[in-house]
Amino acid sequence: MPENMLGNIFVHSFIFAAFMSDSLYNNEVAFELQPKKIDEARQGETLTLERPQHVISNGKKFYIESYGCQMNFSDSEVVASILAGAGFDSTSDFYEADLILINTCAIRDNAEQRIRHRLQHLNAVKKKKKASLVGVLGCMAERLKDKFLEEEKIVDIVCGPDAYRALPSMVEEAETGQKAVNVLLSREETYAEINPVRLNSNGVSAFISIMRGCDNMCAFCVVPFTRGRERSRNWKSIVNEAKELYERGYREVTLLGQNVNSYRFSEDEKLVGKKLVDAKYDESVVNFAKLLELVAQVAPDLRIRYSTSHPKDMTDDVLHVMAKYPNICKYIHLPVQSGSSRVLDAMNRTYDRSWYLNRIAAIRNILPDAAISTDIIAGFCSETEEEHQETLSLMDEVKYEMAYMFFYSERPGTVAAKKFKDDIPEDVKKRRLQEIVDMQMKHSLIRNQQDVGKTYEVLAEGVSHRSSEHLFGRNTQNKVVIFPKGNIQIGTYVQVKVTECTAATLKGEVVS
Ligand code: 5AD
Ligand code: SF4
Repeated sequence: MPENMLGNIFVHSFIFAAFMSDSLYNNEVAFELQPKKIDEARQGETLTLERPQHVISNGKKFYIESYGCQMNFSDSEVVASILAGAGFDSTSDFYEADLILINTCAIRDNAEQRIRHRLQHLNAVKKKKKASLVGVLGCMAERLKDKFLEEEKIVDIVCGPDAYRALPSMVEEAETGQKAVNVLLSREETYAEINPVRLNSNGVSAFISIMRGCDNMCAFCVVPFTRGRERSRNWKSIVNEAKELYERGYREVTLLGQNVNSYRFSEDEKLVGKKLVDAKYDESVVNFAKLLELVAQVAPDLRIRYSTSHPKDMTDDVLHVMAKYPNICKYIHLPVQSGSSRVLDAMNRTYDRSWYLNRIAAIRNILPDAAISTDIIAGFCSETEEEHQETLSLMDEVKYEMAYMFFYSERPGTVAAKKFKDDIPEDVKKRRLQEIVDMQMKHSLIRNQQDVGKTYEVLAEGVSHRSSEHLFGRNTQNKVVIFPKGNIQIGTYVQVKVTECTAATLKGEVVS
């Protein structure tokens, strides 16, 4: 069993990465075992870019490696942009780097263990090569702060997610032999005007960060502590970024945030905090439904996706905007976490089972063809066997297309760590998780079988990793579809009739 199987499991009938899209070709089991929203194929990915021509080189090279969720990968693009603007060149070979950066994740313990192993490896490298500085960025940097310096002697720079603009000066400080730490969280920073670089992209789909932080305080979650208060980025800079991407040939943007449905922006400086939340929607206040509409209007052939939604904020107005615009993809990720109202209350999710099922009913009613996926945690503190059964029965009722599934991992400093005992034995957590996974496997297959015979518009995203004669892309429901390459150009739309499937992928023939 792979190591990460022990902690985090996701099963899907579709996935955003090419590596999974090809399971049809080798009959491998149609599920992967991975951290949530953590695309295994991208873990540890490096990013290189060219320095803007008008910026004079400072003669130094940086190397950056990213772990965790899409937000972190998106942040690494911002970091690369800031460093390039300060005169750094980049390299994909850490042996030649003057500055080695690791963008870290803290969501579960095994995510942190992975980073620790990587740092040990870098330590061995550092001993052999020219002196270079090592910086840790992101959520684990924010969680551990200067403790990171004590625990990992190799680290010279600790930079939290709101301090990336300070990185060039932190490097200068570290070059004098001092350790540099900046973990200040901000109420304003959205990196709005920093144009992220997109060099590792497929040139077709890109992420746009629309907000940062989270105010929800789910009891199990470390994010509010590592990413700070929720703040929304100016909608004008979001729309401009979408336009610019479209002009450069991109055909899909995913709007990113921890809780995108609570997006709210006003240029009226008096409208802050609760006043902004309570403000009636008018010309000066842009909420998520309005933002979706503004981005959808950029171009009819620019697809829009978004992630992640909190059920409490999934309002009908968002669903109606999705129904109105064919280019807003009919796919909703709606994390439930548990099917038991008692557990949901302990998790501080602020909704109960019937409220969640009412939101599912609203989706089915307004968007009958939408695919729905979720996140589930098995074995949260004090979860009984009956409550676990309630999660299984909710899954059976909804029949998700896909789910990211985890067993509970206590995170220091969270509400749950302070208030509750992590009292479900590990073997029980794993058994419950396995039952959840088994059920999802069945549902993913059923859902995909329902697609056989249907024709979907698919955006061609790349060449299948398993067969150079095939391309892969996704339909509006975010399901990966494999089809013969023919003369189809990557970045164009094709109509594909689904002819066969596994629980992970659809395979089809081009019909136009
Ligand atoms: N243990 C297990 N899973 C967690 N998640 C967040 N925190 C934890 C934790 N401490 C999962 C939730 C969330 C997703 C981002 O990760 O399901 O929706
Ligand atoms: Fe964590 Fe809850 Fe915020 Fe999601 S909504 S980031 S689970 S606190």
